[in-house]
Amino acid sequence: MPRCRRGVMVEACPGTVVGDGLEEGRCVMSETSLYGGPANRRVRVHHLRAAKERGERWPMLTAYDQYAAEIFDEAGVPVLLVGDSAANNVFGYESTLRVTVDELLPLVSAVVRATRRALVVADLPFGSYQASPEQALATSVRFMKEAGAHAVKLEGGRRVAPQVEAIVGAGIPVMAHIGFTPQSEHGLGGFRVQGREDRADELVRDALAVEAAGAFAVVLEMVPAELAKRVTGELDVPTIGIGAGVDCDAQVLVWQDMAGLRGGPLPRFVKQYADLRGVLRGAVDTFAGEVRAGAYPGPEHSYA
Ligand code: KIV
Repeated sequence: MPRCRRGVMVEACPGTVVGDGLEEGRCVMSETSLYGGPANRRVRVHHLRAAKERGERWPMLTAYDQYAAEIFDEAGVPVLLVGDSAANNVFGYESTLRVTVDELLPLVSAVVRATRRALVVADLPFGSYQASPEQALATSVRFMKEAGAHAVKLEGGRRVAPQVEAIVGAGIPVMAHIGFTPQSEHGLGGFRVQGREDRADELVRDALAVEAAGAFAVVLEMVPAELAKRVTGELDVPTIGIGAGVDCDAQVLVWQDMAGLRGGPLPRFVKQYADLRGVLRGAVDTFAGEVRAGAYPGPEHSYA
């Protein structure tokens, strides 16, 4: 299969490729990838669409505070989500249902201020958009105006298509979230894989409905891998998997899960790439030991 000058399969290259695309072709694609691209230019939703067209997979993480956001942005993670999962990971609630718009706004502000490149998505919490398209738009405007978010996310398929349309109509990019939607935990009967067997077509209809309403990406949570692959093939916008197999266009994890800060049992889809909990615990133990032994502070940490 011939490749253009950037090494992308010619057929998948959205740029203008002249001739065989191998030498003097006018390939107008960006010279960089979505992950780790130029640090001085914000990622926009059209960059995500272009990544899908050229077959580039990308990572997304949650972020809720300055330092984590800064590190992920420096690494080149193109999209950061200030999830309503802050409920469990910041505020200590037992489910996402309890967190409010007023609690999330300062977290979104902090993440926006700490980043130069990542597209920052604010999650609309439970009860802040379901009532009507007007309510959804008013909440989204708060996140854009008061916190400087670049996009919002909401949960649901066909039933929230009017909300997606109203928000997008006001010029605000919307990320949709279908499959297992934690805000509907009680209605769905707990944390269960969605779209199995005869429910598969319904999930596809949900995905197509939010795309038609204008969503720029769709999160697929706890969906069988084969079904996620089908949805990814049917949509023009990127799919972002969390417990949805390897064939989604992107993958998202809660950062404390990914980095091993969270304790207790984890969902099957989580892979831990570090043991931050162990590292922090080690640091605390050493600090406490030195304080108790009178070894800290030493002369180098003291003033004359
Ligand atoms: O709130 C959240 O963290 C999410 C995810 C998709 C991880 O919605």
